[in-house]
Amino acid sequence: MQMVTPLNLNDDFSRRVVAPATDAAWAPSPQPGVARRMLDRVGGEVARATSVVRYAPNSHFERHFHGGGEEILVLEGVFSDESGDYPAGTYLRNPPGSAHAPFSREGCVLLVKLWQFAPGDTETVRIDTRAEPWRAGLVPGLAVMPLHEFDGVSTALVRWAPQTRFNTHAHPGGEEILVLEGLFQDEAGDYPAGTWLRSPRWSRHTPFTGAQGALIYVKVGHLGAEFLTP
Ligand SMILES: [Fe+2]
Ligand SMILES: [Fe+2]
Repeated sequence: MQMVTPLNLNDDFSRRVVAPATDAAWAPSPQPGVARRMLDRVGGEVARATSVVRYAPNSHFERHFHGGGEEILVLEGVFSDESGDYPAGTYLRNPPGSAHAPFSREGCVLLVKLWQFAPGDTETVRIDTRAEPWRAGLVPGLAVMPLHEFDGVSTALVRWAPQTRFNTHAHPGGEEILVLEGLFQDEAGDYPAGTWLRSPRWSRHTPFTGAQGALIYVKVGHLGAEFLTP
């Protein structure tokens, strides 16, 4: 039987959202040993959702089918399924139509995005970001690792050296950021590791870093995009 979780959260994509990482944000999932921090969610039984998901050691999730595709960035520990073991730093895309029975031996923390695949985006992706080369960014101090690009939606890791300042820029298709390390900043605030930010279409900002620098996951172009619908 499918567990029903009728819930909408941060479902007005024209609004800016800043979600700090707090202990209170964690809630149990229907699966024992698996907790989640919901970031955005649209829908009931089958949701278009963005979450941080935490597997306790020796926990598993029921075998499931990805009707609308699944994107995962392994943040901590080792995530596994029948296709392999994926340590922290692995970027995965399981396209619509795929299925798996995931588990974790030592425990893990994941960024998971469901039902955010464009029609025709059928590529299976496995990237070990700890081994991939970085490219020079647009300003000194910035390094970029592209993860995926499809139909105007781009996903990348961006490493900011300490004391880096980027140009003021607009996000025609919106921008979503998860701060992975360090302290990311812009004129509207300070975002320590674990903070999730979603900025609407045509928003603008001037981001920078201080003494710590930062590592961020960034997706742009998706907030006006057409996705498969549940
Ligand atoms: Fe999955
Ligand atoms: Fe930006």
